[in-house]
Amino acid sequence: MSMTNRAPAPSYVLTPTAEFLNSLEADRPLVRYDLAGSIAHAEMLGHTKLITEAEENALVDGLRQIGKEVHHGSFPWRSELEDVHTNVEVRLRELAGPVAGKLHTGRSRNDQVAVDERLYLREAVHSVVSRLLRLEETLLTRASEESGTPIPGYTHLQRAQLVTVGHWLLAHFWRFDRDIDRLLATERRANASPLGAGALAGSTLPIDPAWVAERLGFDRPFDNSLDAVSDRDPLAELLFDLALMGVHASGLGEEVVLFASKEFGFLERSSVLGSGSSLMPQKRNPDAAELIRGKAGRTLGDLVALLTVLKGLPLAYDRDLQEDKAPVLDAVRAATSVLDTLSEIVRKSRFDHARLESAARDPELGATDLAEALVRHGVPFREAHEAVGAYYRANPDPSDVASLKAAFPAVGAEASLLFNPAEAIGRRITSGGPAPSAVAQQSARARACLEAHAASLSSLGRKVGLIEELLNEERK
Ligand code: ARG
Repeated sequence: MSMTNRAPAPSYVLTPTAEFLNSLEADRPLVRYDLAGSIAHAEMLGHTKLITEAEENALVDGLRQIGKEVHHGSFPWRSELEDVHTNVEVRLRELAGPVAGKLHTGRSRNDQVAVDERLYLREAVHSVVSRLLRLEETLLTRASEESGTPIPGYTHLQRAQLVTVGHWLLAHFWRFDRDIDRLLATERRANASPLGAGALAGSTLPIDPAWVAERLGFDRPFDNSLDAVSDRDPLAELLFDLALMGVHASGLGEEVVLFASKEFGFLERSSVLGSGSSLMPQKRNPDAAELIRGKAGRTLGDLVALLTVLKGLPLAYDRDLQEDKAPVLDAVRAATSVLDTLSEIVRKSRFDHARLESAARDPELGATDLAEALVRHGVPFREAHEAVGAYYRANPDPSDVASLKAAFPAVGAEASLLFNPAEAIGRRITSGGPAPSAVAQQSARARACLEAHAASLSSLGRKVGLIEELLNEERK
């Protein structure tokens, strides 16, 4: 794009390696945070009398004007300008005139980009956590609908003991609940504002980092300027949180893939799971669940990419740090799409109850129950384990009541109920276990955790709202 009739760009964008240094594609999505940070910074310059009130007004009005242009899609992005910060600065000069040159007083792009990223992180956590809460809500609802539906539980992917679909869904609930905890804690730890750290050593001017920190909704300003411009811990934590969340989602995705196969047949194969084959007319593939599994790989890569960039960097700012944004934005995009799709799958998938019921009647699932019945009659567990193992090896149908009574007279009257799925589930009353009574208590705990997290999210929402307030506030 031509630069004629425009104010000259700052000289640092015109180097021979300009194209290589350019980061606009990666940092352009940060523009709203960049503007909000700049507005707060301009207000601080006014507050500390480093600029006059008229200058402050001119800067803030110009920045808000840019905010409107960005919002309406009319902002003149110039790809030849190095990054989002430079695009804003050059445009501000066009709108506000030479006073634009005062905005960078006591500030560097090093503390500027660090503050942008923390404001971005706040909003990213909010958007991922709201989706996680929606998923949790869906898991809870489906768990209560399927609280009495038996399903084989597996270890080593071999049928092990009976659980319920409700219990299985809640197991996934708790994984995602820990993800929420981690994300909220990551946001809390990122609550120090880097603005005022300058390039690396603060400023000789009487700037007020605490004032600007408060204006931007941070708990406090940075403790150490060298640390502040190089600290990417919040981004690394965010990526870890998202990678682990992706791993959790991939586990559920994998179970959906398995359960929707003809071999398992626990889930009806429907269009909610994906699409058909372009060649095989009969196919209905669980592509969506597969892709959820696959996206986790990419997010893990994002985490490793960032940690590898950070490893061995000397203090304070190094240009390597510019490589931090692409993996973070990629992982956040993946997380939101995965969670939206997963909620839809959980909400719309239908279980094949007949198939589950017949799987639940597999006598293998009752072997441990039989051993524990013997324990109730005083047999030491090791002996019971041995005896039941031998009985299973010798009998083609271990659930046959006559064979049971013959082999284990003590079990007697219980024999006919031992392999009844509803009875078998009802017996597993361990707190946190699959019996419907225990699952009801578990659901109540899950509901309480969900509500506590929803409350934390709404207070985070107020901080997220600060960005729009800064961008839109009417000036007195
Ligand atoms: N584009 C840079 C980044 O993302 C902004 C900071 C540049 N600072 C500098 N001293 N060149 O890290």
